[in-house]
Amino acid sequence: MKLFDVYPINDINIIRAEGSYVWDDKGVQYLDMYGGHAVISIGHTHPLWVKRIEEQLKQIAFYSNSIRIPIQQQLADKLAEVSGKKDYQLFLVNSGAEANENALKLASFYNGRKKIIAFNKAFHGRTSLAVAATDNKSIVAPVNETDNVVFLPYNDEEAVKQYFAANGNEVSSVIIEAIQGVGGITVATNTFLQTIRQLCDEHNTVFIADEVQCGYGRTGKFFSTDHAGIDADIYTMAKGMGNGFPIGGILIAPKFQAKHGMLGTTFGGNHLACAAALAVLEVIEEENLLNNAAENGEYLMNELRLIDALQNVRGKGLMIGFDLPAALKELRKNLLHKSHIFTGEAKPNVVRLLPALSIGRREIDEFLNALKEEIALMSNIQNVEVSDTTKA
Ligand SMILES: Cc1ncc(COP(=O)(O)O)c(C=O)c1O
Repeated sequence: MKLFDVYPINDINIIRAEGSYVWDDKGVQYLDMYGGHAVISIGHTHPLWVKRIEEQLKQIAFYSNSIRIPIQQQLADKLAEVSGKKDYQLFLVNSGAEANENALKLASFYNGRKKIIAFNKAFHGRTSLAVAATDNKSIVAPVNETDNVVFLPYNDEEAVKQYFAANGNEVSSVIIEAIQGVGGITVATNTFLQTIRQLCDEHNTVFIADEVQCGYGRTGKFFSTDHAGIDADIYTMAKGMGNGFPIGGILIAPKFQAKHGMLGTTFGGNHLACAAALAVLEVIEEENLLNNAAENGEYLMNELRLIDALQNVRGKGLMIGFDLPAALKELRKNLLHKSHIFTGEAKPNVVRLLPALSIGRREIDEFLNALKEEIALMSNIQNVEVSDTTKA
């Protein structure tokens, strides 16, 4: 049977991983500055994470949500402590799209409305409502199309104010990534987020912070919206939550009243996923990874800003992006195949860095040295090519 060919893949077979490194089947070591798409939070195969999963696996991996699953409550308690959102409620799912799907649905149950405000270049996942709120026509199937989602320009306070002034009482929710990931590492201003918060309060609209990529400690605070000093009504989480074990969830403000049957899932919140997620939070706390993300992220960003060839270095904590000039468009490929370093991209010319929150200075310096070397090499080749052309 053929695999359904939807991914443009690199011909590399990773068979082992530890911390910020992975190894292929030929024994080649790679530095992971991408965390498998922002998923690796506490480092690959962290010993405590492995131990917790192994121990849980020997006890019970799964039973349905029709019974008491105490490890869900343990996870909720730890999340309250680490996130600081002590009076919120937790609903567990398996992925980011599912988290957003449930958040948008819950908002609509809550205020009985249909309209959703999303933003240009947003990415919220590939299921029906999540993809409808994603600003990429090529992944929206005809069946997903809906008039219920309106896209407004990101960081444009006036546009949001105007929309609310005209239609505020119809808007069920606003969904926003405080730092757009797939969209190219675009950081929302604090005033933009605060304006949305205020408009949502005035119109009984639900503020949904999609923290699937930018949350869970990645920016140095637990949620990226925390930098703006605001609370969302619903936070959606996935990626870093399980450090590679599939789990997602939504944090729900106290004003939302649960009702039996309102939301549900077969696999969400299973014993094994909760064990993985619990280990992640314990390590985040014990190893002070929020501080690490803030400090090492700042160091990395400052060093990147000193490299002339890189344009518009931006981000927060360990969610960093920069633009490449046309002459360096092969940089990511060269870093991967020559220096053995994984980085991420956003179309058309953005490099995304999303390493583990546990990454150290040594690994960051290794990356910076390789990056500078590769840029110097590529610039020399460019110069030679330019002068050759001139001669001709
Ligand atoms: C901000 C954001 N939301 C939602 C998703 C969807 O998550 P998943 O792929 O786990 O469904 C992603 C995935 O990249 C994302 O970056």
